[in-house]
Amino acid sequence: MKEIKQSWNDLMDRNEKIYIFGTGVVGQRLLDLIGSAGYTDSFKGFIVSDDRNERMTYGEYPVFSFKDVSEKDALVLVSVSDKYHKDLYDMLKMNGYTNYVNAIEFFMIEGYEKREEDSMEDIVDTSIVLEANEIKARDEIVAFFKKCDLPFDSGKPYQSFPRLGIIGERDTEKRIEMYRLFDYIDEHTELLDIGCNYGFLDMALSSRIKGITALDFSDEMISMAQKVSELLNISNIVFASGDYNEFQKSIPDHSYDAVFSFAVHIWLNISPEEYAAQLFRILRNKGFVFFESQTYLSDSKYGEFCLAIEKKGLEKVFSVLLCDDGKTERKMTVFRKGN
Ligand SMILES: C[S@@+](CC[C@H](N)C(=O)[O-])C[C@H]1O[C@@H](n2cnc3c(N)ncnc32)[C@H](O)[C@@H]1O
Repeated sequence: MKEIKQSWNDLMDRNEKIYIFGTGVVGQRLLDLIGSAGYTDSFKGFIVSDDRNERMTYGEYPVFSFKDVSEKDALVLVSVSDKYHKDLYDMLKMNGYTNYVNAIEFFMIEGYEKREEDSMEDIVDTSIVLEANEIKARDEIVAFFKKCDLPFDSGKPYQSFPRLGIIGERDTEKRIEMYRLFDYIDEHTELLDIGCNYGFLDMALSSRIKGITALDFSDEMISMAQKVSELLNISNIVFASGDYNEFQKSIPDHSYDAVFSFAVHIWLNISPEEYAAQLFRILRNKGFVFFESQTYLSDSKYGEFCLAIEKKGLEKVFSVLLCDDGKTERKMTVFRKGN
């Protein structure tokens, strides 16, 4: 314990500029720790993985996209769960950062642990009237969210789930409506959702679709999504955890009528051409790809991916700009395979 405390102090003393990567519960706790140890002057702000076209704040501090911090030698305390460290380290390295540490271990200092009073009231709209099974499902989500700190969450789950009163960063109902999803999918549609996150979007569609394969990298999120869908008696979603790049190899040709690729392509380490070829391969004739950008203005690859998909012979049939989180404008384009 003492050694860790000592190394924490050394680390803080050695760095005049400190950032925290992540704005979840753990990030907030780290900030408390910095404050209580007297290093507030060195703290410059939070960094997030998403691109934001306008600067946000978290508490009184600025939040920067990882691309926007110019002091690449500043100390970055990475506050996301272990599983994501490697990917994040790779991303930080690729973007020129030279000085970052896994900060989770610092919670051992002075028994600094997540506290019971970490209230999650701000993620639940309790005015929604729920059945007993829905209450269980909602509580499962809240308990999960209290326990985990995932890189795509920033104080709220990434996706909202209106049916259960779960407030998320991204507005699931608005996405369904603005993306006109029900113009393209119906009770005959078999859908693959790449990087489904909590699967709340899929659960919201489940009663009007034949079946969904919902894939995400995160085992924790997938097992939570599985439990929630069981509690809600949803039986037509197969949740799978794993890396898309591996998973896609097991998909037979022409397996799906629709594929969602929402805010995920930059995480897949794949070229536009490869991705387009894979989407083409797994889609049935007359199937649709729904392709959503990161922040539209700074997702420099979005156009290249769209072009590659079109070059593969898929036709652009619809596109829309949406700002469903009040901060980030994203583009979503629907492509159709064949006529
Ligand atoms: C920004 S979130 C978008 C979530 C969801 N598609 C949405 O738009 O609501 C990206 C998601 O992709 C998942 N992800 C990232 N890399 C992945 C990979 N290689 N394979 C599968 N899922 C991945 C993450 O775990 C995360 O849940």
